[in-house]
Amino acid sequence: MIKPRILMARAVFPEVVAKLEQVAEVEINPDDRVWSQAELIERLQGKQGVFTTGSDRIDAAVLQACPDLRICANMAVGYNNFDLAAMTAAKVVATNTPDVLTETTADLGFALIMATARRMAESEHFLRAGLWTKWSYDMFAGSDIHGSTLGILGMGRIGQAIARRGALGFGMQVIYHNRSRLEPAIEQEMRARYVSKDDLLAQADHLILVLPYSAQSHHAIGAAELARMKPSATLVNIARGGIVDDAALALALKNRTIAAAGLDVFEGEPSVHPGLLEVPNVVLTPHIGSASIPARKAMAHLAADNLLAFFSGQPLPTALNPDPR
Ligand code: GLV
Repeated sequence: MIKPRILMARAVFPEVVAKLEQVAEVEINPDDRVWSQAELIERLQGKQGVFTTGSDRIDAAVLQACPDLRICANMAVGYNNFDLAAMTAAKVVATNTPDVLTETTADLGFALIMATARRMAESEHFLRAGLWTKWSYDMFAGSDIHGSTLGILGMGRIGQAIARRGALGFGMQVIYHNRSRLEPAIEQEMRARYVSKDDLLAQADHLILVLPYSAQSHHAIGAAELARMKPSATLVNIARGGIVDDAALALALKNRTIAAAGLDVFEGEPSVHPGLLEVPNVVLTPHIGSASIPARKAMAHLAADNLLAFFSGQPLPTALNPDPR
């Protein structure tokens, strides 16, 4: 039997490559470089499957140039690197990795809320720079997390996991805004109250963004939205770059329109807006929301399992579009 041919667009755990090699001919990316579109197209020739991450874009041009491609398995829950409509039109299956990273990503979101509100990065830099010569009453005094109002924009699986942490662990009042309102029983379980986006901006002490990136959510937080927030508020983005207007945020942090921000994702990452690197009141992490070893392994295995299921005629664990087989 002829084995299917799979391209690994980025490096991943060797055990996952070995698992795929049992049934497929696998080409790896030994240097783990982010390939240009032209390189990706070249390497995809004759491949029926591809294992991607958020750094690999699959769009109409790639699909047109790679007629053998039948399935793209993304090792991420977000899939804005896929043109899903073009993939569906080309009868190419798209899969992602939901659920297995929910709690891990919610942990990082909460860690960023705490680090931001309690000024942990700023105070660590101060200490490392040898500037700590005495204790003083207001040194790095920030804002409280317990008992404050937690605002969540985007209330999917990860948003709900953050709401639980806030309400049940820290006694926070949880308010949220989402495209659709949750069932009353779920709202009750996480003690979350649905509000308009305007009220969310005005009332949150800590606002966390957990919505998917799309043309509709592009710059959902810009200068006007930042101006509606409390001057004491913190903003955390663990969703996607581009949901926040980073230039507007850098200015708002400089002018203290809001108190501080915690960012795991950036417009045009891995580049970071220079204004964000200049202000002290921001905590920056390099897109590590799901980066625990168990979660990353589970994501890689789930992406591989989608490829294995596809090539063995089994139902797909986490398909994003209709399965044309
Ligand atoms: C990470 O950003 C993901 O979408 O899984």
